[in-house]
Amino acid sequence: MKDEFKRRMYDDLVWTWPLISHPSSTEREARLLSEFIKGRAVGPVETLLHLGSGGGHMDFTFKEQFRVTGVDLSEGMVGHARTLNPKVEYLVGDMRDVRLGRTFDAVTILDSITYMISEAELKAAFETAWAHLRPGGVLLTYAETTKERYENHETYIHTGEEGDTSVTIIEVDYDPDPDDTTVEYTVVYLIRRDGKLSIETERHIQGLFPLEVWPRTLESVGFDVEKRVFKYSSEWADIEYPLFLCRKPMTDQ
Ligand SMILES: C[S@@+](CC[C@H](N)C(=O)[O-])C[C@H]1O[C@@H](n2cnc3c(N)ncnc32)[C@H](O)[C@@H]1O
Repeated sequence: MKDEFKRRMYDDLVWTWPLISHPSSTEREARLLSEFIKGRAVGPVETLLHLGSGGGHMDFTFKEQFRVTGVDLSEGMVGHARTLNPKVEYLVGDMRDVRLGRTFDAVTILDSITYMISEAELKAAFETAWAHLRPGGVLLTYAETTKERYENHETYIHTGEEGDTSVTIIEVDYDPDPDDTTVEYTVVYLIRRDGKLSIETERHIQGLFPLEVWPRTLESVGFDVEKRVFKYSSEWADIEYPLFLCRKPMTDQ
């Protein structure tokens, strides 16, 4: 059953991304997150590694303040990000094991952390962040949802159009087995081109953990963790989630 689901987003449908989401929609969120990072780091923050950088929408704003390097599993998404941010360095890689052999002042793992489906994977992603941070640097990550807050059939609908093409996406969450750490995330695309309708679906498997797993796992990697509640309204939704500002201590312990 789980084999039907995939983790790489939008490889076939990446072309729809600019229609349904514009970088301006995440501009305010990216600015707020940048302030959090700068406020928590020891010393200046000039370089930022974005793990799971997707189509580069957050980087569109991050690049105003930081020298950004983006890493994503999907070549399609990396291609889109390169078009949007031609001066940003983008690499194809897996946040669970990529090693670039250099360090940064800050690392972010944003919505893409939901693709970590076990505690071991969550820890592997945090270890990647640790390996790429200088002492005093900061990892910013967040839990879009947790076991405690999760609701089945939460649905988002969004439409974008350009010229003769419109795309409506319907996103639905569902948890077939509340005893494990995964949920299903299904996306239906209604694509109208030159008046003709085509319907595509993507099915993803994502992680879902109790809240306590987040600080515990981050601390097990060595981070000094500060938890905040992040509240934010976007064109997609009113968001409120636990956010973790994790500093790498000045000396490795
Ligand atoms: C919703 S998109 C991220 C959008 C991004 N925040 C932006 O600003 O455009 C989620 C991304 O996570 C990526 N992803 C999933 N698993 C990954 C992994 N193990 N390593 C790196 N990227 C991963 C997917 O390829 C996808 O591009």
